[in-house]
Amino acid sequence: MAHDIAVIPGDGIGREVVSEAFPLVRDVAEARGTTLAPTEFDWGSERYLEEGEMMPEDGLDRLEAYDSILLGAVGHPDVPDHVTLHGLRLPITKGFDQHVCRRPSYLFEGVDSPLRGYDAGEIDFVVYRQNTEGEYAHVGGREHEGSDNEVAVQSAVFTREATERLVRPAFEAAAAREGKLTNVTKSNAQAYGMVFWDDVVEEVSADYPGVEVERLLVDAASMDFVRRPEEFDVIAASNLFGDVLTDLGAIISGSIGLAPSANVDPTGTYPSMFEPVHGSAFDITGDGVANPLATVLSCSMMLRNLGEEDVADALREGVAAQLADESAPRTPDIGGEGTTEEVVSDLRTRLL
Ligand code: NAI
Ligand code: MG
Repeated sequence: MAHDIAVIPGDGIGREVVSEAFPLVRDVAEARGTTLAPTEFDWGSERYLEEGEMMPEDGLDRLEAYDSILLGAVGHPDVPDHVTLHGLRLPITKGFDQHVCRRPSYLFEGVDSPLRGYDAGEIDFVVYRQNTEGEYAHVGGREHEGSDNEVAVQSAVFTREATERLVRPAFEAAAAREGKLTNVTKSNAQAYGMVFWDDVVEEVSADYPGVEVERLLVDAASMDFVRRPEEFDVIAASNLFGDVLTDLGAIISGSIGLAPSANVDPTGTYPSMFEPVHGSAFDITGDGVANPLATVLSCSMMLRNLGEEDVADALREGVAAQLADESAPRTPDIGGEGTTEEVVSDLRTRLL
């Protein structure tokens, strides 16, 4: 099959990992009978600095016809982070109703966790993060700016529809995996939105009697990600909590440079977007050492979502084989001295 892919490399190491990883993914797909036809969109902070906008006003219209979107990362030292995020990633996830964000954490063979004593596969869970509202709703304001009585209000928004449309796929995933769902909230302090969220989880759980439900407050969950990560299977979390927990999930399974993510509209009405969990990483931009594997694994999730299971499997297996091979190049974040380019060309010899 052929698929049209909108490629948005973005900023910083986003450009570096996408420019190395995507051509490989495209060739691996082609060798297996799947054509990926990319269109590159040069949107991001450079555009903002020149033209005042991260993407054109009709950006969503231009993306809508594509089968999937691949995003590198956005973020620039000279542009405030809320501008880059609200100027590109959030308009896409919200505008295209990508209400389910799936972020797996898996400890691959050959990768050291900073936690002692874990073998390959013992850390293996997936976070289902609500992706269109919650704490990331653009609701609030500032008054009396700069004065002593300045006030800032930031509201979180939880709707029944969006909460249920995150929780239900999380239960489906749990039913297909180990049969355990951990619901992470902060219902002791956030007595409206989070208690409402808990209520929705309880309602939906009635449809999944085979799934065991565990409830954790987010502070305890943070501790337990470190103390007993092996006990997690599927985690359902709000937009903010899912964001925070997935960086933690990434590092306990070796590196944020290995963490992929999928922003999905499960109805298929709009294109879904795939991206590494990491940002644009100013500290290593230009050094050529960003780990490209999170992007390769994100592309694997993209191909699975497109129904191209064999290409998706090949990419994931190639990454797993490379990581398991002590003599293969690896980037500094996972203890090596290799470059982005060396890692991708080693993968190329394994997969082509
Ligand atoms: P970051 O994820 O860019 O970097 C955090 C740390 O992880 C840094 O030390 C970095 O060197 C390291 N790191 C990240 N990706 C890596 C990779 N592939 N290989 C090796 N090391 C890697 O997060 P940070 O520093 O908080 O944010 C930098 C910028 O990125 C900010 O402007 C932020 O707003 C933006 N950002 C954008 C995201 C997105 O586009 N989805 C997500 C997170 C942050
Ligand atoms: Mg994040």
